[in-house]
Amino acid sequence: MVKSTVKQLGLVVTILFAVKANAVIAADFQAYPIDKSSGLVMAPGWEAVKGNCTACHSAKFITGQRGDRETWQSMIRWMQSTQGLWQIPSETESTILDYLATNYPPNKSSRRSNLPINLMPTAPNRYP
Ligand code: HEC
Repeated sequence: MVKSTVKQLGLVVTILFAVKANAVIAADFQAYPIDKSSGLVMAPGWEAVKGNCTACHSAKFITGQRGDRETWQSMIRWMQSTQGLWQIPSETESTILDYLATNYPPNKSSRRSNLPINLMPTAPNRYP
């Protein structure tokens, strides 16, 4: 009796976790639209990034990169000392760093997850 109650409780907890995990994934998907011309996520601060960070190179340099605030700041400093990037007013730089660290953080993959197998095209030479 006690054992099965414990088991049931375990199941309930597992389901709750699954629901929570799904909610997080759903939140990830609903997020912000993508700017068509740059590919940047249109989250707060994106205009400052588009305005300051796409004059010399494609925004793909940014969307394909990941980092925490410190890493992003070091990239900016590197561009300032070696690539001719101008001084950005500190308030604007702070907006840019918040945006980058929030939307392109170290743990977020730049790739979408794999398609489920049933959505994959059939490979003509697949065995069997
Ligand atoms: C004045 C020109 C200029 C501006 C403006 C500029 N960059 Fe760059 N950036 C460069 C150059 C040059 C490179 C190196 C390109 C190469 O590797 O050939 C680079 C490279 C990068 C890279 C790739 C670093 C790597 O890992 O290879 C990232 C990320 C990046 N920039 C982000 C930004 C961000 C964010 C901003 C806005 C704050 C910005 N850039 C603004 C010139 C600029």
